[in-house]
Amino acid sequence: MSDADSTFGNRGNRDASVVNPHGRGTIDGSRKSGPTGPGKAGDPFLIGENMSGGYGRGPDILHDCTIAVEKGEIAVIVGPNGAGKSTAMKAIFGMLDLRKGSVRLDGRDITALNPQDRVKAGMGFVPQVNNIFPSMTVEENLEMGAFIRSDDIRETMEQVFELFPAVAEKRRQAAGELSGGQRQQVAVGRALMTRPDVLMLDEPTAGVSPIVMDELFDRIIAIARGGMPVLMVEQNAQQAMNIADKAYVLVQGANAHTGTGQELMANDEVRRTFLGG
Ligand SMILES: Nc1ncnc2c1ncn2[C@@H]1O[C@H](COP(=O)(O)OP(=O)(O)O)[C@@H](O)[C@H]1O
Ligand SMILES: [Mg+2]
Repeated sequence: MSDADSTFGNRGNRDASVVNPHGRGTIDGSRKSGPTGPGKAGDPFLIGENMSGGYGRGPDILHDCTIAVEKGEIAVIVGPNGAGKSTAMKAIFGMLDLRKGSVRLDGRDITALNPQDRVKAGMGFVPQVNNIFPSMTVEENLEMGAFIRSDDIRETMEQVFELFPAVAEKRRQAAGELSGGQRQQVAVGRALMTRPDVLMLDEPTAGVSPIVMDELFDRIIAIARGGMPVLMVEQNAQQAMNIADKAYVLVQGANAHTGTGQELMANDEVRRTFLGG
């Protein structure tokens, strides 16, 4: 392991869902979707509004938490470990039953949809952990990503390879053999295979060196500027603020600060608490 790996490599392991033996809060494939309804006038493209909820019968992790992303924007969630960033992402993706609040996408209330139907509704989600199939080839991972499609996926796959040339060269290798940064590229590529309307990334730069992190950020910015809104969790708050059109600081499952990246960087309390000065 390189120095960079040991500095960044364990971040994902702090996600309690890795060590949770009961599998609570994971996708229950058997859960049927309920009906969708209309959104609210003036809604952002994607919004999880006033979300409260937790895992199984456990206590609420999210407390009235609101996260949104507009078309053409990058919205970033930052906050300390255990703040509920991943839980908020899972709630928006439908992996958690909300006790309160709603999720609306593109003018539609999708609170009752299961994750699979949210993918069909246009969400692409890259979870923090277990986001690739290590024993499958890069190409097979991308094919799995396209599971909801029955049309020709080759063009989308070539687009993913254009975006991530390093993994294109390794398309027939087992994804688990790739470097941390390349695995994350495979994971993002997998989510892009459904041609989502919004991309949700939970710590896409976890476990990669600073140089690879910059490259990944560049690619993510390119995706967003190409018209696909991006909602991401990022551990590196400074970097996150630099690229965020909108930033959310979560503390103990609640919104602590919200603003543009610039606004939050100019906020003394945010700087002191989250940006190291
Ligand atoms: N699958 C799970 N089952 C039960 N509790 C969980 C699970 N995943 C996370 N938690 C708990 O939820 C809280 C928030 O965790 P998480 O959303 O992973 O935080 P973050 O992503 O901000 O580091 C923590 O107290 C964590 O222990
Ligand atoms: Mg997390």
